Amino acid sequence: MSLSVIILAAGAGTRMRSLKPKVLHELAGLPMVEHVYNTSMALGANQVQVVYGHGGDLLKTQCQHFDVEWALQDQQLGTAHAVQQASPNISDDDVVLILYGDVPLIKSETLDALVKNISGNNISLLTVNLDDPTGYGRIVREADKVVAIVEHKDASDEVKTIQEVNTGILAVRAGYLNECLSKVDDNNVQGEYYLTDIISMAVKDGNEVITTQPEQCFEVEGVNDRRQLSRLERIHQREIAEKLLTDGIALADPNRIDVRGELNAGNDSFIDINCIFEGEVNLGTGVTIGAGCVIKDSTIACDCYIKPYSVIENAIIDKETEVGPFARIRPGTHLKENSRVGNFVEIKNTELGENSKASHLSYLGDSDIGKDVNIGAGTITCNYDGANKFRTVIKDGAFIGSDTQLVAPVTVGKNATIGAGSTITKDTEDDSLTLSRSAQRSIKGWERPKKK
Ligand code: UD1
Ligand code: CA
Repeated sequence: MSLSVIILAAGAGTRMRSLKPKVLHELAGLPMVEHVYNTSMALGANQVQVVYGHGGDLLKTQCQHFDVEWALQDQQLGTAHAVQQASPNISDDDVVLILYGDVPLIKSETLDALVKNISGNNISLLTVNLDDPTGYGRIVREADKVVAIVEHKDASDEVKTIQEVNTGILAVRAGYLNECLSKVDDNNVQGEYYLTDIISMAVKDGNEVITTQPEQCFEVEGVNDRRQLSRLERIHQREIAEKLLTDGIALADPNRIDVRGELNAGNDSFIDINCIFEGEVNLGTGVTIGAGCVIKDSTIACDCYIKPYSVIENAIIDKETEVGPFARIRPGTHLKENSRVGNFVEIKNTELGENSKASHLSYLGDSDIGKDVNIGAGTITCNYDGANKFRTVIKDGAFIGSDTQLVAPVTVGKNATIGAGSTITKDTEDDSLTLSRSAQRSIKGWERPKKK
């Protein structure tokens, strides 16, 4: 069976009160429509079409990396009309699955089960039972068999008491879908072309409507405003946290972690409260992440200790290394085994060798630092002349005194020492002491200036 997905995303989303099209609003760091797209791909869809309207240009540029066809719905005349902008492009024998760009948490398992029910011209429909079904299309059954969907606004008082509602998600063979859509009219209270009208048509044609339900209600919840979006965000984050706990990662509080991407962690790792993980982050076993850290696209090996409020991006941190508190590790940094980076240290595009330490208040950019090096407090690599960037090389065993400026390009020799307060502009020899400060002198009887 060949599967073709149509994602409806033409709604204006006025209740978001935003300049952005609704489906671009992010959940867990990804536009809502990207969640739906990723789920479609996970199902193995061989064709995905997005029906767009409002804010189309922004949508198309932000989703350039999608392998989809874009179908414009100029005027929003209803869900049947929306589907019709895409469905004629699908081969008759494909199964069409209708999804919604503003229903981001639908699971592929649920959809797999839905699609598997398709045979001939039957319709497979996802429904859900709600305590308060107000606003939704009601599933009308006769002797247990679905015979129609009636929209809330068109429903009689009796139909309004039905608690089983239409989620909007359904699957049907493309040829039959197109045949039905050509017969849908706008004779209803809202004057819209309803996709739901194909249900009663199918029943009249002698086809069956088979229903399934999602495991959890949030899967089929749509987002119309920021309140609903934030609610789904919390549900989604809680699900991720539960999975981390199941996988053997300790969390100080499963309600206070945010994963906006993919977090993999070995057993016995511990994550304290209010950490944010973005992109792909891999933690080894026994890693401790202190409170308030923000970590993006990085790999942190076994038994590292990342102390509170550190920000790490695009870095590799080898085992048994300590970082922070308040450290900033920027892209291109590799901290090697058992190294230490302390508070208020910024490191960019730098390799810090095994057992080396930069414990306080430093900027290390574009540098190659060997093993067993000690970087004193207040050391600055002057890597930028205003136009070009240059590298600083510090060889194994060097000791850089506090408040040193290393004006790149420059090399500090093996086991070399730099006296505190030096400005180093030329390469220094191995095993030597280099200092650039003037000798200390005292002027006796010197008086401070007085106010005139
Ligand atoms: C629809 C269903 C209803 C169901 C409910 C679930 C119909 C007629 N009704 O009602 O049975 O219970 O969803 O939420 O299908 N859209 C377009 N173009 C359009 C119209 C809609 O792209 O011309 C998109 C919207 O962006 C939205 C989705 O389709 O994502 C649903 O449209 P909406 O108007 O909200 O349908 P409901 O009235 O909620
Ligand atoms: Ca709706």
